Amino acid sequence: MHAFAYKDGALCCEGVKLANIAEAVGTPTFVYSKKTILDDVAELQEALAPLGAHVAYAVKACSNKAILNMMAKMGVGFDIVSGGELWRVINAGGNPTLCTYAGVAKTEPEIRYALEHGIYCINCESENELREINRIAGEMGIKAPVAVRVNPHVDAHTHKYITTGTNENKFGVDITRIEELYATIAAEMPNLHIKGLQMHIGSQLTEVEPFVKAIQKVSPIAAKFKELYHIEFWSIGGGIGIVYDGCLASGQPEWWAARPEQITIRSYAEAIIPLLKPLGLKILIEPGRRIVGNAAVLLTRCVYEKKGEAKTFKMIDAGMNDIIRPALYEGYHEIWPVAEHKGDTITADIVGPICESGDFQAQNREIADVKPGELLAEMSAGAYGFSMASTYNSRPLAAEVLVDGDKWHIIRHRQTLEQMVQGECLPE
Ligand code: LLP
Repeated sequence: MHAFAYKDGALCCEGVKLANIAEAVGTPTFVYSKKTILDDVAELQEALAPLGAHVAYAVKACSNKAILNMMAKMGVGFDIVSGGELWRVINAGGNPTLCTYAGVAKTEPEIRYALEHGIYCINCESENELREINRIAGEMGIKAPVAVRVNPHVDAHTHKYITTGTNENKFGVDITRIEELYATIAAEMPNLHIKGLQMHIGSQLTEVEPFVKAIQKVSPIAAKFKELYHIEFWSIGGGIGIVYDGCLASGQPEWWAARPEQITIRSYAEAIIPLLKPLGLKILIEPGRRIVGNAAVLLTRCVYEKKGEAKTFKMIDAGMNDIIRPALYEGYHEIWPVAEHKGDTITADIVGPICESGDFQAQNREIADVKPGELLAEMSAGAYGFSMASTYNSRPLAAEVLVDGDKWHIIRHRQTLEQMVQGECLPE
């Protein structure tokens, strides 16, 4: 459920007309609904309460300071993947002792920075990384809290670029080797404190079954590690999928009732709680997309229309630099006119201004026959939208706005051209 809907023919976020925001801030602009984010976090916390599970929000999904600050105020922890993300969390008022730190290529300065700030746990992805952390912790005269990411070799049935839990992926340590590795840590790495176990099999999982499979596979190992090494937690990762196709309708309760097969926080919780509860371990989850994905739209304006030989194109002022998901993952985002249309649809490609044929937001899509000057909302843009944006083609980064009831606030000013080239200089 989210807070985007037409009211009297005007697409609104909570109590604010999107057209008013575009008028004041311009386009392209990401517009987030505070209520949607808070509701999503609360729903997760409630559904997983029987497990006493802790939510560690995956910062990479959307790392705006205002969003992180909201999470921190809700008592949410953070899953980070770089020193930069940890810096953002601290800067936004988050607590590093509630942070887990994932990633396959952490550098020495990043590891030191995390340890200096009392990170809850570093989730390691290889033996060599563990040895490096052991060395650094030794120099610092501390014991570093670590867990290892186990790769359970389970197919997540998602796009190949966001599948992470099979033995073809660079992530984690194979399930067949994990026990041996924990024994090696205990025997040979005195500056490490084995604190937990971690896994994450992929992103945008639309079925519960791969989560169940992975948990069933890894559970005996988690139980064993609790016995042998007194691990405190098991993080089962993120990955809960959201609705992309049907997004606008999914803001209505009836939509959910009609689609019992759609993964929900409830169906996820119901499937995993009975499997995890008997272990008696602290359970962490690392959701990103499920918290912010449906909570934002990208506001954009139609600039031109072109009727080609084979296709009709609607050119918009948002490009793959603003939101790269369609180009990179064949991601599907619904696109709706901000002023409601009745009936007049057309099949068209919605394309951006970037000089690449891969710069499209939709292809062969039946959409409202919007005319140049009209505003559009690209739905489900909250996760991996702005956070993956770039200034490619020298296009300044978009603005971000947070709606709160019938008020709205800029949470990132549109980048200026001067800011875009800041740091560049001529050789001396
Ligand atoms: N934990 C770890 C270790 C991860 O690598 C990720 C995502 C998450 C948690 C959060 O996953 P989520 O709950 O958001 O599915 N840019 C891609 C998604 C990349 C996901 C990377 N890792 C996209 O736009 O689809």
